[in-house]
Formats: sequence, structure tokens, C-alpha cells
Amino acid sequence: MRRTIIAGNWKNNGLRADAVALATGIRTALDGDGGSGGVEVLVCPPFTAIASVESALAGSEIGIGGQNIFWKEKGAYTGQIAPSMLKDAGCAYVIIGHSEPRGRFGVPDPDFDAPILAYFGDGDETVNRKLKAALVAGLIPIICVGETLAERQAGHTDTVVESQTKAALVGIPAEQASGLIFAYEPVWAIGTGEVCESGEADRVCGVVRSAVGELYGPEAAESVRVQYGGSVKPDNAKELLGKPNIDGALVGGASLKAGDFVAIVAAAPERQ
Ligand code: PGA
Repeated sequence: MRRTIIAGNWKNNGLRADAVALATGIRTALDGDGGSGGVEVLVCPPFTAIASVESALAGSEIGIGGQNIFWKEKGAYTGQIAPSMLKDAGCAYVIIGHSEPRGRFGVPDPDFDAPILAYFGDGDETVNRKLKAALVAGLIPIICVGETLAERQAGHTDTVVESQTKAALVGIPAEQASGLIFAYEPVWAIGTGEVCESGEADRVCGVVRSAVGELYGPEAAESVRVQYGGSVKPDNAKELLGKPNIDGALVGGASLKAGDFVAIVAAAPERQ
């Protein structure tokens, strides 16, 4: 039995006061709603608000995650955050390989003429390094994979998702692969309001699971949890979370409103 995991990815939103208000709002609403009821819940604030959110959530069951990390523990890497720093700041989790730091935006940014990839640039190799570094530091990684609209239209969805999954896992021993968390996030559904149809989302979450199975066998495949992410909202969460291969949600926009986020938690099968 895989435990449902709902994560809020706050992205580049929130000064400390906003983040504390949001965290407190989620905590209060969840308590008022009977708690998380067996669902694993976490929020991923911007780095600058992690410490404040940690205080706001002290003593609650809501976990905290970072939105990214660097793979080196220390050194002359201006602007980078080491895995141990995230842990030290109060994070138990970290998002790795989100399509935004991979530079694979669903919606092109009209402010940039140059390819946006030039400004970010996570790829299979760095995702793999970050995953290894996170595991060494004892952080729980959420590894994101997903196809762009052009890749989907060209019929390459499964190949892209399978190859990103396998590339992330290069050199990861079987005992560490078991129980990992992935997020299938079709790039075209992120921040666009366009949700992947639940049957298709379930199918592609199954592609992630099969890729793990090909590398490590059926038990490992059954043990990994695969979230769906991309325009998850209170009104589509129940349908998505009811699918057998979808073990949770990585929620962006709707995680910025306490009521919406808690409604998504409440839609998890454990809570029905
Ligand atoms: P969205 O973002 O829910 O706003 O589409 C999801 C994500 O990027 O993790």
C-alpha cells in the first residue's frame, strides 16, 4: 500500500510574512478538517522563507521541502544551496529536476528573447547528481519528469518520460531506488490550467513505474510513489488521485491558497 503524498510547490512566490500566513492557513485548515488523515503533506517554500515556515509549522505533521539543490556540499559555487543546508534549515524533502529549472517551460516567457534554457539548465546529468547528493544528505527527493507539448505531439511522451526516469537513476543502487518519489509533470500542463486527462496521467505514471521496474525489478516498481503534477485543482484532484498509478500530487498554483490546497488533500482516497 503506497501512502498518498501531496506536495505544495510555492515556486517564486512569497515574502516571509506571506509564507508564514499561508503555512499557518494550511495548518489551521487541515486541523479543522480533521488533519491529514494518513496523507503525507508537505510544502516547498522559496529558500528565503523556509526558516520562517519551519517555525510556523513546528509540531505539525506538515513537512517542508526545498525547490532545488546543488550537488556539491561546499565550495566556491556562488548562489548555490547544498543539500545539508536544506536539511539544516528544516527541510526533509527536495524537488529535483522540475521542468522549470530544467528550462522546459510550458508557457514561453515573453520577457525573454534568448532561449530560456540559457538561464537555467538542469538536465539529466545534473538531476542525477542532485539525486545522489540528496540521498547522501538524507533528504527525500521528489524527482520530476515530463514531456513538452512538442514532444507529446510528436508521439514521444513515453520515450521522454522513460529516458528521464532512467537517466535520473544512473548509479543509484536498488536499495535506494525502492521507495523513491517521482512526479510526472507534463510540461504543457504546468501553470497553464490545462490538466492531463486522468486516464492518460495514470498511464504515464505507469510508464515511470515500468522504467523503475526495468532497472530494479517489480518490487521496486511497486514501491515507488508517482505523483501527478500540472494544474491540479480541488475540482480535478479526486478524479486524478483515484487512479491506481497516481500516488499523489505536486501542486503549484492551487497550493498558494490554503483552502484549495487542503481541499486537494481532502480529495485523496485515504480521506474518503
Ligand atoms: P501548477 O504547477 O499546479 O501551477 O500547474 C505544478 C508544478 O509545477 O509543480
